Amino acid sequence: MTKEELNSIIEERGTGAPPLVGILQEIQKREHCLPFRTLEMVAERLATPMSRLYSLATFYKSFTLKPVGRHAIDVCLGTTCHVCGGRRIMDRLLLALHVIEGGTTSDHRFTVTPVRCLGCCSIAPVIRIDSTVYGHVTQSQLAKILEKHD
Ligand code: FES
Repeated sequence: MTKEELNSIIEERGTGAPPLVGILQEIQKREHCLPFRTLEMVAERLATPMSRLYSLATFYKSFTLKPVGRHAIDVCLGTTCHVCGGRRIMDRLLLALHVIEGGTTSDHRFTVTPVRCLGCCSIAPVIRIDSTVYGHVTQSQLAKILEKHD
């Protein structure tokens, strides 16, 4: 992000406490994360301590300090899903998308994260892409499921 882009966000959002969260949200939206260098520019421009920015960046779950994909894939590896093949679903996804657990695809389309119980064990194994939950998932369904999330 350039200084000019950042200045335009700050001018739109203002500089008080709530606008600071809005500024970080806009940066997160554009960069898919809060890069350290950009946080340094925000701190300098607003004369705000990095510790304040870091505490906001780590307090809100919607912020991330490392790049994430446009779509978050949560693969349940809780006990029930594990027994029902969740591990095989995870391995198949990682192979298909050429990523490691917690990693993001090179095109920034997906980030694949293992999670513990999504609260719908009766339809295990379960994956969630953004807010959509898929149950009774099989390896052969994965390609079609991924196609739905461009
Ligand atoms: S263990 Fe997977 S949803 Fe509960």
